[in-house]
Amino acid sequence: MLAHSRQLITCLGVFLALSYRTAAQNDPKLVLQPATGNLTTAIDSDPFIECTVQPQTAKGAVANVRWLDPEGNEIGDKGLNNRKYTKNAFGGTFGRSLKFFKGQKDDSGLYKCVADFYGHDRLETGVYVVFYEDIKFEDAPTLQHPLLNTAGKVRCLVSGNPAPIVEWWHNQAIVTSGGRYRVETDGLVIEDIGVEDNGEYTCTAAVPEMGRSIERQINVEVHSAPEFKADGLPKPARGLEGRSASMECEATGIPMPEIKWIFVPNGEDVTKLEHDEQKTRRHTVDPVTGTMNINDLKKVDQGQYKCMAENAAGRKEETAELFVAEKPRFDVVTNTTMHENKSATIECTVRGDPAPTLRYIREGTELPITADTDPRYVLVENERELRLTINDLQRSDDGLYTCEASNEAGVETKASHITVQFAPSFANTPMHVAKTWMGNLEAVNITCIAESIPNATIRWQQRIINSPHHLPTKDITEQMEQDGYKIENRGPSSSLLVSAVSYDIFGEYLCIASNELGESTHVVRLLQATVPKPIASVRVEELTATTVRFEIISPNDDENLILEGYDVFYIKVATEENFQQAPARSWPIGVPYTVEGLEPGRSYRFRFYPKNRVGVGAAFDKEVSMPEIGPPRPPTFLPNGNDTSGEATRYRLQWQEPNDNGAKIVEYKITYWKASEGREASRVVTTRAPASSYVLTGLEGGTTYQVEIVARNERGFSAPLELFFTTGHGRFSSHALSSAQGFHKIDPVEGDVQLSTPVIIGIAVAAGLLLALIIDLTCFCTRHAGLTHWLATRLCGKSEKLKNHDVENIRHTETDQVDKASSYLIFSNLAYHDSNKQNGSNTANRTQSDDTNLYERIADSGFCEGDEQGRYQVGATRSLSMGSLVQLETDV
Ligand SMILES: *[C@@H]1O[C@H](CO)[C@@H](O)[C@H](O)[C@H]1NC(C)=O
Ligand SMILES: *[C@@H]1O[C@H](CO)[C@@H](O)[C@H](O)[C@H]1NC(C)=O
Ligand SMILES: *[C@@H]1O[C@H](CO)[C@@H](O)[C@H](O)[C@H]1NC(C)=O
Ligand SMILES: *[C@@H]1O[C@H](CO)[C@@H](O)[C@H](O)[C@H]1NC(C)=O
Repeated sequence: MLAHSRQLITCLGVFLALSYRTAAQNDPKLVLQPATGNLTTAIDSDPFIECTVQPQTAKGAVANVRWLDPEGNEIGDKGLNNRKYTKNAFGGTFGRSLKFFKGQKDDSGLYKCVADFYGHDRLETGVYVVFYEDIKFEDAPTLQHPLLNTAGKVRCLVSGNPAPIVEWWHNQAIVTSGGRYRVETDGLVIEDIGVEDNGEYTCTAAVPEMGRSIERQINVEVHSAPEFKADGLPKPARGLEGRSASMECEATGIPMPEIKWIFVPNGEDVTKLEHDEQKTRRHTVDPVTGTMNINDLKKVDQGQYKCMAENAAGRKEETAELFVAEKPRFDVVTNTTMHENKSATIECTVRGDPAPTLRYIREGTELPITADTDPRYVLVENERELRLTINDLQRSDDGLYTCEASNEAGVETKASHITVQFAPSFANTPMHVAKTWMGNLEAVNITCIAESIPNATIRWQQRIINSPHHLPTKDITEQMEQDGYKIENRGPSSSLLVSAVSYDIFGEYLCIASNELGESTHVVRLLQATVPKPIASVRVEELTATTVRFEIISPNDDENLILEGYDVFYIKVATEENFQQAPARSWPIGVPYTVEGLEPGRSYRFRFYPKNRVGVGAAFDKEVSMPEIGPPRPPTFLPNGNDTSGEATRYRLQWQEPNDNGAKIVEYKITYWKASEGREASRVVTTRAPASSYVLTGLEGGTTYQVEIVARNERGFSAPLELFFTTGHGRFSSHALSSAQGFHKIDPVEGDVQLSTPVIIGIAVAAGLLLALIIDLTCFCTRHAGLTHWLATRLCGKSEKLKNHDVENIRHTETDQVDKASSYLIFSNLAYHDSNKQNGSNTANRTQSDDTNLYERIADSGFCEGDEQGRYQVGATRSLSMGSLVQLETDV
């Protein structure tokens, strides 16, 4: 452009020289206004140039003034859209004006004004019109974001004609090409631009020829396009229906990119859904991390999700698949009903993704059914469908079969029912025989229970023997109540209530149950019950002086009602007594048939009657002679009577008190010894009746003892109860030590070591009485005086002679009741002698072992006579708390 203007100026010079020559001749000439040889003006301006003829007087000789454009064409008058046109000179002056309207760069050029001058060369002048381009920023935004780490360009494109010169400034310094900077025509390139290059840059443009300059502040902020933080984000995800799932999409960039999630199948922006109040807010997107979370997942949420990270510098997007596992749901679960021995099929079909695993579980069991469970089972499995066929159905197959469908999203179950139909059966009807009797006020209840599916209905018939109409059976209907028949329910259980109104009711009844699969009959015989058959025999099982226990044997009477018990009446033989006023007893079946309170030595006649609901059977008589009073029966061992305490020095003995055989039991004598040592080293204790236990103390640990327990009544000692026990292991205790010295401590549990005042008084009184007795006995024996002497003379005259007074030592080793027991022993002894004398008998039972039985010998000894010398020693060892020993002796 500069070169072009120089050329233009040279042309102008030539032209001026030419004009000068013409003017000098003083000829008419054309004059331009403004008078410049060239006209420079900005594009879009509207300059005009006037071309007039000088002098005006030459008007006649000069004509046709006109303008020619740079191409030499005449410029016409003003017309539409013309950017240039001509018109007559202003103010009626002879000449012509050239006018531009918004002149453009291409309108620039040499415009000539020419006129004809008759007889001469035509007049001509020109002006060089230049439309120049003003300096201007074409592309230089004030805020620019070059991309990070690129050769970022700060744009500043300046236009102008002539071309402007551009300069860059940054931080008050001029920036020139070099280093990371490169000044280009359209901007400043900064290599590997970073955030440290952020700041204000000044772009200055100048056209010295025109004296024009402009500048612009450009703010540079480096940007970077979004990038996903990790490779492969977002990742494919899996979620379970009803649960939640999340997909990550964290991105970086300057500025911070905005994350958007798009559900690809329908193009919905789930980020926006969050703000939509109408939707359930199942989707949430964390604005910082970009993580999308979906709550309460549904199958419809499955599909491609696109994550878009976007900022001013760009956008990055990626899609990933979300799989939603769908819970199993049952579509079809069938029940089935089928006959026994046929095949039944149940099936279940499910929805769910992934396809659920299906299995059948029999209700009440835990193991799933497999083909191996039962050869009758056939399992057919397809995807989302399971079918179970049971062949040869059994009644036991009836029940619920649970179909269980499971996949990762959950487990669902649903039960199918297999109903196995079967014909009626009376397998569980226990009644085959019923019994009643004429006169029974209660109707007999004949009940049939028919098992079947579906429920059976029951009808009743009676089988007729010797039917006059040759009908084997007769139907029983609801209308036959006056005949004694009442029917309760018709199935599946039915009761026929038969009242004994006539003998016709006895016989066979048919209970007929039917359903669509068949019919079944059950027969119940209604028998006529009678009083029990006579008793076959009665045996005495146990006999004492006052009691008798019987064994009663009744004959087999199965067809009859069960025996309910026996009544027994008894009278003394050879007396006036008769059975009308006789004492009676009633026994239900099974109790011990025992009669007590009988008189010793008597003969009784017992009369037994068997009983049932019909009545009383025939009598059965039995005579029994009661034995005389004798020594008691042996005590019996109590089951579980052993002491389990396992103590070393103590042992609790337990026994059952025996029958006293007519005379009250007075005491129990316990003899015990170490089994290893033998009876010679025995110790003896007694305890007063009634008693059923005794604690032996002062024993040696880990030792086996043998024990004999005998009961005594006035007639003597019973046979012994023999037993063994072994003490627990323990240290050799003070108990054992003291026992070795012959002293036993009172068991602190059993004995009242601390004697109370009444007991001490009792002891004192007893001791006083004992002393009195001894004095009395002494008087009787030496001086034949005193109370005993008086009694002896009064009674012994009529009584049998007492013989020997061989009284041995009675050693009452201490007992818990030593005082009471010893004194009691003595007094009961006396009383026994008294009663002997009064009864005139000394029939003490002598079957006892030849034990140290003081009383027996006393009985034999003819105590009243006193003609034999003896030594009576009554020893009472009272260790007690005082540890004293009282020993009383007397010579007879
Ligand atoms: C199948 O039987 C079960 C249990 O008896 C019942 O709950 C269910 O409704 C039945 N299903 C159909 C389809 O009859
Ligand atoms: C008859 O016996 C059946 C079965 O024991 C019972 O269910 C029913 O109630 C009885 N009927 C009468 C009237 O006692
Ligand atoms: C069958 O009988 C039983 C027992 O009486 C009853 O519970 C059940 O409802 C009956 N079934 C039908 C289908 O009538
Ligand atoms: C009691 O002990 C004796 C001897 O050890 C033994 O034979 C008997 O079976 C025991 N009785 C019980 C009921 O434990």
